[in-house]
Formats: sequence, structure tokens, C-alpha cells
Amino acid sequence: MTVVGVPKETFPGEQRVALVPADVPPLKKAGLEVAVEAGAGAAAGFLDAAYAERGAQIVAQRNDVFATADIVIQVRAAGANPALAADDFALMRTNQWVVGFLEPLWELGLVRDLAARGVSAFAMELIPRISRAQSMDALSSMATIAGYKAVLLAASTLPRIFPMLMTAAGTITPARVFVIGAGVAGLQACATAKRLGAKVEAYDVRAAVKEQVESVGAKFVELPLEASSSEDKGGYAKAMGDDFYRRQQELMAEVVARNDVVITTAAIPGKKSPVLVTGAMVQGMQPASVIVDLAAERGGNCELTQSGEIITAHGVTIIGPTNLPATVPNHASQLYSRNLTNLLRLLVKDGQLQLNLDDEIIRESLVTNNGEVVHTRIRDLLGTPQPAGSQ
Ligand code: NAI
Repeated sequence: MTVVGVPKETFPGEQRVALVPADVPPLKKAGLEVAVEAGAGAAAGFLDAAYAERGAQIVAQRNDVFATADIVIQVRAAGANPALAADDFALMRTNQWVVGFLEPLWELGLVRDLAARGVSAFAMELIPRISRAQSMDALSSMATIAGYKAVLLAASTLPRIFPMLMTAAGTITPARVFVIGAGVAGLQACATAKRLGAKVEAYDVRAAVKEQVESVGAKFVELPLEASSSEDKGGYAKAMGDDFYRRQQELMAEVVARNDVVITTAAIPGKKSPVLVTGAMVQGMQPASVIVDLAAERGGNCELTQSGEIITAHGVTIIGPTNLPATVPNHASQLYSRNLTNLLRLLVKDGQLQLNLDDEIIRESLVTNNGEVVHTRIRDLLGTPQPAGSQ
């Protein structure tokens, strides 16, 4: 019987869990057994009893979870938990599988370590953004949560309220929110800010998102910038040249200055985030304005952002959160767990893991197998020649 193991997360501050009780029955139906480390879901509000009721086995010791499991599922493993990854690696064995966020494009050494241990790994962040994989797209799920939470952080930091109010003591004008990057996180930020009553505008290099921005009640900011080749074939943004970013900063300075809150979400997968808001642009904002920089982990879209910190510069508060989904652990776990369960259901046939490399979803998210790094892009980054016969 193939066993799926769910250890408790060890990354500092991580409160999510890779599997919620509701997803135990679908895995059992697929012919898998489930072993959960005692207390794994507690921080997210999922108690051991709830897992046991749905047919999971509760395992007291972490090392026993790894020892029993054929497939270990985690929220943060390998490069997504770099300081503690080695502790887990020591518990892993050849031919074991691990599925989770792995940061495989950044922590290349840890990918190599996984391969050297003979562990086969799937990276949730490499699931391609194609229609068939939507139900497995954990990055989108987490970005949705992050976009929502970013607005709440901004709202609770701004010394103004979001909605317009007409009171006996006079009229309060609505807060103005500018969202840069209208992808998954950005659209959710627009929708959340709008629901709170703010006046919302958004900009994205992909002009195609204009309609989506408008559909959540925000105004799309048009900038006279040539950005026709800004999207890659995976639906993600491509890095643009320095001249492009300089021109964008010039054009956007005035929009940034007229807003109370700026939320930045412009990410380029596997690359440092582009600087879209310079120090001078921050200086141009009204005192007590707020910037929430969702790209903080990769250097930030604001030049002054400090990853994981809240700072004040030129009277503006700049928040650089790095793990917002962990602060909404119940729903974040629910979404992540369903994404991961859907991937497992694709991988498992009659209770056995079957590696169909003709399937784009499997091929694109498989990082290591049979003692080797197998992912084309990561092999390139490592300088490992591609195997003969591959494209
Ligand atoms: P996404 O790829 O769906 O959206 C990013 C958007 O930014 C795209 O629409 C893209 O066209 C746009 N963009 C790229 N360059 C731009 C530029 N120069 N100007 C304007 N727009 C530009 O990404 P998603 O899934 O929405 O994630 C957004 C960000 O949120 C990422 O940086 C991700 O790492 C981050 N995130 C942060 C979390 C946190 O706790 N801080 C948690 C989850 C996600």
C-alpha cells in the first residue's frame, strides 16, 4: 500500500499544513493510505481527531512519518525551508517521493542534494499555468490569499479609513489604492480594496488584463509603454529591459503620488523582482501613505523595501511581507491541500505512483528522479548537459 506522509511544517512562522482532513477520503479513494504527524494541522485549526475520523493514521514521531511514507507531502520543503531542509533530508531515503514548494529555481544546491539522496521531487511552484492544471495551481491559490491579506495589512496601517463616509461631522473621502501588477494577487487585492470601499486603480504590463481589472470594480491605468512581448508561453510575465523599467517609473510616479496605498505584485518567475517604485517616487507620496510590497522576497518592487520588515521612509510605511499565506493558515491550507490532492490523483493509478512523462503537468513539475536533476530549466541553471535525445 502506498502511504502519503504529512509531517508538521518546520519553517519558522509557517502555520499551514499540506493536507486538510477533508482531503483524506479522496486520497484513500485513490488507493493511498495517509499518515499525519501528531499536531501537524493544529496551527491551521485542523485537529488530529479530525484527520483520524476521516481515516488517517496519526503518527507521534516526525521520523516515523518519514519512515512510513512513500510520498512525503509538505508546504515548504528543500529550498522553501533552506535552514532546516537538511534535517528532513536526513530522514529521507532512496526512491522516496516528496511534493511541496521547493524553491527549485533559487536553491539549486538543495535540488542537487535531493537528487543525490535518490529522492524524487515535485515542485508545486512549477505546475504550469495551463487550463488543465488550474485545479493544481498552488501558486495562484497562495497569491489569492496574499492579495487579500496585503489589503488588510494596508488598511490597518493607513491612518485613514477606506470607504467614503458622509457623517454629521462632515464627509470623509475614500482611500485611494493603486495596485501594480494585476495577476492573481493583484486582482484579489483590487477586489478586496474595492469591497472595503476604496477607490482602486491598477496597472499591468499585460494590457489584456484591463477587462479583468474593470470586472472587479477598479480602473485600469493606461501608460504609453510598448509592452507587447511581456508574457511568456507559461502565462507569466517576462523580464523587460532597463530602459523599459526607467520609462515605466517616470510614467507611474504621478499615479503613485496620488494614491494613499500602493500594493506591488510584479513578479518574474525565477528572477529578481523589477524595481517599479523608486526612492524618489516614495518621497513623492503623501506622508503616512502605505506600500505593501508582495514581491519583497525577491528583492521587492519598491527600491526601499526590506524583505520581511516594516520600515518608514520619507514618512511612508513600507511593508515587505514574505509569507502572507501562512498568516491565513486555515483557508490557505484548504486551497493548498486541494491543489496537492489533485496532483496526487493525477500521479497515482490504482494506488501506485505512475510517472507519465508525456503529461506536461508531470514533466514540468518533476525536479529530480532516479538520482538525477531531470528538469530542463534547472539542469540549464546548474550547467548540467541535457540528456541525449531531449529537446
Ligand atoms: P502573477 O504572475 O499572476 O502576477 C504578476 C503580475 O505582475 C502579472 O500580471 C505581470 O504581468 C505583472 N507585471 C510584471 N512586470 C510588471 C511591470 N513591470 N509592471 C506592471 N506589472 C507587471 O503573480 P501572482 O501569482 O499574482 O503573484 C504576485 C506576487 O505575489 C509574486 O511576487 C509572488 O511571489 C507574490 N506572493 C507573495 C506572497 C507574500 O507573502 N509576500 C505570497 C504569495 C505570493
